[in-house]
Amino acid sequence: MHYFEYKNGELYAENVKVADLAATYGTPLYVYSAATLRRHFEAFDSAFEGIEHITCFSVKANSNLKLLQLLGEQGAGMDIVSGGELFRALKAGIPADKIVYSGVGKRTEEIEEALLAGILMFNVESMGELERINAVAKDLGKVARISLRINPDVDPKTHPYISTGMKKNKFGLDIEQSLLAYKAAAEMEAIEPIGIDCHIGSQLTTIEPFLEALDKIMAFHKRLTEAGITVKYLDLGGGLGIPYDAEEPPHPTEFGKAITDALAGTDLTLILEPGRVIAGNSGILVTNVVYTKTTPSKHFVIVDSAMNDLARPSLYGSYHLISEVAPKGRPEKNVDVVGPICESTDFLARDRDLPDVEPGELLAVFSAGAYGFTMSSNYNSRARAAEIIVDGDKVIVARKRETYRDLVELELESIEG
Ligand code: LLP
Repeated sequence: MHYFEYKNGELYAENVKVADLAATYGTPLYVYSAATLRRHFEAFDSAFEGIEHITCFSVKANSNLKLLQLLGEQGAGMDIVSGGELFRALKAGIPADKIVYSGVGKRTEEIEEALLAGILMFNVESMGELERINAVAKDLGKVARISLRINPDVDPKTHPYISTGMKKNKFGLDIEQSLLAYKAAAEMEAIEPIGIDCHIGSQLTTIEPFLEALDKIMAFHKRLTEAGITVKYLDLGGGLGIPYDAEEPPHPTEFGKAITDALAGTDLTLILEPGRVIAGNSGILVTNVVYTKTTPSKHFVIVDSAMNDLARPSLYGSYHLISEVAPKGRPEKNVDVVGPICESTDFLARDRDLPDVEPGELLAVFSAGAYGFTMSSNYNSRARAAEIIVDGDKVIVARKRETYRDLVELELESIEG
């Protein structure tokens, strides 16, 4: 469910015409709907109302400051994976005690920053990291609250690049290693184990892998308690999928009920780290058709957005629905929608039936609110897109379009002497 709708033959973001936004701010343009974002957060968060919990939005999905601020106003905490994401979350006014820090490669400076900010906990992914956090906390005269990320060895049945909870993945500690690691952690002077963490992958379209992981985690929790280590938090990570195409992922309510039921009778506080399910369908990428071209074997629609703006199709072969901003009812043609970048992987869609569009027309690439702008780059010296948030009638420039000057700013000194 989202608030990008066609009214009188034109695409609107809430009450604002998408074509007007493109005319004012140019393309490629990311447009987010605040009402959609709030609705998704509400739907997800309220699915867990039966249990003490904190919904920590996964900043990697969309780290725009204004968007983080809007979520913060709804009561969201944040799941971060770098010092940069910590900086953004704090700038957006997120209380530090609602921030959890995941990731396999936290650097010393990043650990210091997080300790000084007073985050809720580190999700620790190795013994080396645990020892590093202990040492850094000791130096700062602080105690670091941690959970260990357990790799439950569950197949999330999603794209292999975004599976994280299988034995072969780099993430977390295996269950047997974890018991020893918790015992070691409990002995460390500057470490306080307060939780258990797990995240098995992204874009999951069934509940079963979550429940399978939860089963293993709860069995582990029992062993941990028997070993005399009690924790308050259970962090189940993110991963709930969204419909990009024909997928039918469980509704957050169904997901919440299944998890809440499985945890009935425990007094653990649940932490959730949803990213895609909150932001994915809250955003579109608006792009302009630059040329059309027909070769003996194919039709191409060449647009002004590229793999540097939206990497998902090139990187994972992901499907994103593409529609005209102002449909004209023309017959469809099978086309590749491609960008201007000098690589054959630069496409937004392949073998897609699209109306016979013409140069100068606008297209909307849907479900681009998560892992869209955050994965964008300056490849081919392309300035990154602007980001707009529409809130009812209100239009907020959440990020200005980059300029050529921005592209070279950090290099100029080297040639100007
Ligand atoms: N927590 C942790 C520890 C994670 O690694 C992730 C995602 C999340 C939470 C949020 O997962 P979500 O609810 O969004 O599924 N770039 C890929 C997705 C990579 C996900 C990485 N980790 C894509 O565009 O599909």
